[in-house]
Order: sequence, then structure tokens, then C-alpha cells
Amino acid sequence: MKPELSSDVPAQTIRCRYAIIGSGIAGLWTALHLPQQESVAIITKSTVRESSTQYAQGGIAVSLPPTDSPELHKQDTLEAGAGLCDEPAVEILTQEGPQVVEELISYGAVFDREDGHLAYGREAAHGISRIVHAHGDATGEEVERTAYEAVREAPNITIYQETAAAELLVVDGECVGVEAVGVPGGEVMRFIADVTLVATGGAGSLYKYSSNPPVATADGIALAYRAGAALEDVEFIQFHPTALADEGYPKFLISEAVRGEGGKLLNADGEEFMSRYHPRAELAPRDVVARAVYSEMLEADNNQVYLDFRPLGTQRMRERFPGILDELHQRGFTPEQQPVPITPVAHYMMGGIATDLHGQTDIGRLFACGECASYGVHGANRLASNSLLDGLVFGKRSAAAMAQTELLAAASEEQAVACKQNHIPAAPADLKPQIQQLMWKQVGIIRDGDSLARAQAQLAEWADQISASPGPALAELEAANMCQAGMLMAAAALHRTESRGAHYRTDFPDINGTWRKHVIVRRSPAGDLSISDRPVESNTTD
Ligand code: FAD
Ligand code: SIN
Repeated sequence: MKPELSSDVPAQTIRCRYAIIGSGIAGLWTALHLPQQESVAIITKSTVRESSTQYAQGGIAVSLPPTDSPELHKQDTLEAGAGLCDEPAVEILTQEGPQVVEELISYGAVFDREDGHLAYGREAAHGISRIVHAHGDATGEEVERTAYEAVREAPNITIYQETAAAELLVVDGECVGVEAVGVPGGEVMRFIADVTLVATGGAGSLYKYSSNPPVATADGIALAYRAGAALEDVEFIQFHPTALADEGYPKFLISEAVRGEGGKLLNADGEEFMSRYHPRAELAPRDVVARAVYSEMLEADNNQVYLDFRPLGTQRMRERFPGILDELHQRGFTPEQQPVPITPVAHYMMGGIATDLHGQTDIGRLFACGECASYGVHGANRLASNSLLDGLVFGKRSAAAMAQTELLAAASEEQAVACKQNHIPAAPADLKPQIQQLMWKQVGIIRDGDSLARAQAQLAEWADQISASPGPALAELEAANMCQAGMLMAAAALHRTESRGAHYRTDFPDINGTWRKHVIVRRSPAGDLSISDRPVESNTTD
């Protein structure tokens, strides 16, 4: 019989064929595509649906005939990526996209339609309307619901809720599973698996202003780093230009699709300003809009910039953005009558755990997928609504490759059971707000060498406070991971002496062709941070 959803897991060793860390679209979709006769454990640190996926608004970018083609979608993706996308990866994303979206629909996802056909929204840097969406602005909820309901029906898949992966278990250079701690009890569990997938999502919670749910603390990045895996392009953090500027944390996102439908950005004097920054004005690439908003905020006495919904008209606002409107009303704003104050927020990590085009990392039996992974698809700036698509396309591909992995040899399994990590890192939980403040100010939208070097040094000092703990509380585990991941992001950003896409340095404000390469960071066998690079696989030029 299939075990019930587990929120109170006893300390134990659990043997499974596949261990998946994370229950966003990448984790759930991969689980659904693994062989149905083999056991899958999904480990997730909060409730199952708490993920960035759940909150996605705008939709899924996909090229469907007759007006669109994978080639056009590929060109827009490459252009947004500012010379840093690997073209073979983008080809896979855009060519396999239509088929996985059809598959998601066959699983029961309901997308909005007009005259019986899928309705396509427009978002920044897309040359054409190609964003499928659900319930107007609740695409993520529909995607997560669909995948979760299918997983619940699958007798081979067990979900361990409130179970935080703390350390990857590596024996003789191969990953043999993962050590986890129960939340809030701190009991240690060991999942021994033939194959492990990291699908832990992004790093938004490292920042003071973020659109991501609090679970996005870059755990997968830190786990993979400690295990010795290569990470790439972690200096590229995408800042979304329009989240509601109120007191809440995380900040409530106002979809880019609002600008796609005609919404306008206004400065503190009530003037439209985007055409001063880019010919595509409100529909310029996301990094350009985020920097423009940030610059206008710095110039204004009261720090305020606004998004004006009124050009859409009340009826269009209501049919297209019912969820956003409801939320704004609940928070005391009336976009039908007045522009709403907005702020840029940390939103998405372009880089991550380096993998091949099937999610395989450079550690045996260890795969990564979704926002925490880097297959070279998003370059220096992800094209809007390409992320859910990435989880679907590369989740399916990862599952196919994971299914080919041989069983652990009996001797390795014995070693895995016997291996004792006993060094789960923990840091004082009150470091979290300090890290968020530092990352926002010094590793944020606009950077420079001095502030990055200071950030790296401060994070290294805080890293000295990380100590081993037999079963740390979640907040302590997260603080240690945020500290390590932040240090890697600052180091990579300091290393890249140019500005490109989402990485903007005032001391190197121009794009530089010699930097058309991915920055790789990893932990050397001696325990030091090592930095190298790899050329971009692409035919495009700067
Ligand atoms: P997530 O969905 O974030 O899932 C990560 C999972 O890992 C979570 O279940 C988390 O709890 C778990 N986890 C993390 N650490 C651990 C640990 N140590 N142990 C166990 N579990 C762990 N993209 C689009 O394409 N279109 C959009 O319209 C869109 N809108 C967005 C709106 C918002 C507000 C946000 C925040 C993002 C949006 N994005 C959008 C981006 C997109 O939603 C995410 O990039 C994508 O959903 C990531 O999926 P994922 O499965 O990789 O990670
Ligand atoms: C949004 O709806 O603006 C977010 C889309 C995305 O992050 O891709």
C-alpha cells in the first residue's frame, strides 16, 4: 500500500531507487517520468506545494503553430541571454517545449482559451505573444496542482514533507543518497538511493527584497558545492522589475504580463521613463527594466516608482489579472484608480549546478534539474516564462537518463549505509537578515569590485561561524547554506570583470567579448574555492 503523506518521519534509513530533493515542477515532473515500477522518494522541506512554481503568474513560453515556431522562440531566448546561452540547450528547450506542454495538458492542466484556442500572452523581450497561462495569472498553481495530483496517484512515489536535505552522501566520488533532517524536530534521516536529483529551486531568499517564497535559500547550490560538484554562472541573478513596494516579505510579484498588456511605468513625477532606457520601452529585456526602475528610485526623493494599470481598462484588468487585482485590493491598493508603488526584487538564478543536457552533474549518480541547475539555457538573462518550460523539458530528459543508471553495487550500498557524515553545517539563524541586507546592497542589481570584495570577505567571516551539528534546526541549516551560496555568488561576480545581462558592474560597465564564457566555481579537494571557465556553445556573436 502507498504510504500516506508523511509529516512526522521517524529517524531511519530509507532505501529507494531514486531520491528527489524538492517538490516544485522540476522535482514532481521528473518523478512522474521515472519507471513506474521503481521506488521514488521526494524529499521536501516544507509542505509539498510550497515552491516558486506554486506562485508563478505570467505563464509558460511555448511556440505553437501557426504564427510561431521553435526557431523564433530560440532567437528571442538567445537575444535575452546576451551571448551566454548554449545554443544546443536552447534548441532542446524550444523544440521539445510544445510536446511537454501538450503532455501537461493531457495530465489535466487547464490553460486559458480564446475562441476555443489557447490564449497567448505577451511578455518582455518576446517578439510575439506566446505565453500560455491559467486562470489569468495563476499559472504556477495550476501547473503544481496538476503535477502533484498525478504524483499522488503514483503508487511508486512517496513524499516526505517537512524533511530538509542537509548533506549529499558521496562515497568514492559517487552520490549514494542524501542525509536529511526533520522539520522542526531535527531528527536525522538517511535516504540511500541509486540516483539522486537536486531540484531545490532558486536563491531569491538570499536577498532583502525577493519574489521567492522563503524556501528559496539556495540549499541545492550549497549541498552540491560541499559535495564537490561544479557550479556555473552563479553571478547571474535576475531581478524582476515590478513587485509591490509594501512592507511584506517576500514581496508580492506583479507579473510582467501587466506591461505586456499595456501597463506603464511612471517615476515619482508621474512621467513615463522607459523609452529613455530602451527602444522597446516597457517590453525591454527584464534586466534593462529592473536597472531602469532602480535608477529612477535612486533619483527620487521618496524612492518611489509606480506601475500604472489604467491603460488596460478595468474589464481587461479583471479578466486577465484577477488574482493580482484581488491581492492588491486586500493590501489596500486600487489599481483601477491609481498607479501602485513597485520595487525590483531578486527573482531567479540563471546559473546553478552544472549539468549536461540530461541533468547529469559531474558527480556520478547525481543529477540536477530546474532553477538550481545550469544546462546553459538561460545565459546572462532568462527570457520571461522560460523557467516552467525548463523544468518540464529538462525534468523529462533527466528522468530518461536517471532510469539508465545502474543499481548500486552491494559493497557500495553497505558503505553507503555505514557512511557517517556527522557534519551537517549550521550557522546562527540570526545571520539570515544580515546576509539578505548585504546581498541586496553589495551583490545586487548594480555592483562594483570594491563592494563585491567586501561582501566576499564578510561572507567568509560569517562562514567561520558555521559549525557541525548533529541535527540542526532548519533556520540554522538555511543560514549556513545562504552564507556559502552567497560567497560563491560574490566570488563569481568579482571574477567576471564586465557587465552582461543581469550582471552589471559600474567599474566594468560594458560587455566584453573575451568574457563570452561560463564561470565555473567548485570546491577543490583541499577545500578551497577554485574558479575556472568553459566556452559558450553557441553560434551567436556579441
Ligand atoms: P521550486 O518550484 O522553487 O521548487 C523547489 C523545491 O525544493 C521546493 O519544494 C522547496 O521546498 C524544495 N527545497 C529547497 N531546499 C530544500 C531542501 N534542503 N530539502 C528539501 N527540499 C528543499 N517562471 C515562469 O516560467 N513563468 C512565470 O510566470 C513565473 N512566474 C514567477 C512568479 C514568482 C512569484 C516566482 C517566485 C517565480 C516565477 N517564475 C516563473 C519562476 C519559476 O516559477 C521558477 O523558476 C520555477 O518554478 C522553479 O521550479 P523548481 O522546481 O526548479 O523550483
Ligand atoms: C512574471 O509573470 O512576470 C514572471 C514571469 C517569469 O518570471 O518568467
